[in-house]
Amino acid sequence: MHFLTDREQQEWRAFADEILISGAGPDQGMPEIRPDLIPAFYFYLATFLAAHGAGEQAMAWITPAVLIEEEGNFGCAYLLGFLQRYSNTLAKPATVFSDPRPFIHFTTVPLMTNARRTFVLESARSLPVFEEKIRFMDIGCGDGGLTVALLFCILEEKKAPGINEVLLIDPSPAMAALAEKTVRDAFSEISIRTWNGKIQDCSGAVGESYDIAMSSLAYHHMPVEDKRVHLRRLKPWINHFLLFEMDADHDTP
Ligand SMILES: C[S@@+](CC[C@H](N)C(=O)[O-])C[C@H]1O[C@@H](n2cnc3c(N)ncnc32)[C@H](O)[C@@H]1O
Repeated sequence: MHFLTDREQQEWRAFADEILISGAGPDQGMPEIRPDLIPAFYFYLATFLAAHGAGEQAMAWITPAVLIEEEGNFGCAYLLGFLQRYSNTLAKPATVFSDPRPFIHFTTVPLMTNARRTFVLESARSLPVFEEKIRFMDIGCGDGGLTVALLFCILEEKKAPGINEVLLIDPSPAMAALAEKTVRDAFSEISIRTWNGKIQDCSGAVGESYDIAMSSLAYHHMPVEDKRVHLRRLKPWINHFLLFEMDADHDTP
């Protein structure tokens, strides 16, 4: 985790304002940046330019940045791919995660792989031992890869004798379909329910109890008021809740 000083924030913003007006590319040089923040600086600059309608200039700054991004979360590569797919704009897709591939790529980034491995292991170990086969809900299941990883880990840690039912919730049709296939391939015998919609729209209609609900990297796709409302609605139906999240609201302009 890195934090910018007040002075750095002012300098980065002043530089971004200046190059937006001048139209300059990376050959014009840049201010002094702490070495470990250089990829983050490029990411900031390209995001700033694209958000101000200077998409081509953003591409000019982000393209070389990808080559210096040897470690970390590969944000520059992710942003470059996004701009390429959306004609150099920060366009919001009509359905968030309508194309699962960028997220699947993101899960292969070492920082993510390690964090998720730890999350899975610590989650499984934090659970009590269940006497019966478990009923499991995944809110914002994505491609189902994490669902399966956690369920396998729960079984390996001998926390449950098996899986009874998995409820997969996701508003992206492609993600929901992929998750269903991923879970089915891993557990051919179990019952799988898929809810293709937002958690806000289905939390009031669950109607059945689940031993465990997991949500990973989905809650930052809604405003905090929505989280409060649907968590209150879900509470009677969930015994254990596993959350991997950041404090944010990415989808509200
Ligand atoms: C970053 S992916 C995470 C996928 C998976 N949980 C994982 O960690 O591998 C976020 C997922 O949340 C879904 N999502 C977005 N808004 C949602 C909402 N309001 N309710 C439920 N899922 C949502 C997206 O469609 C996407 O598949």
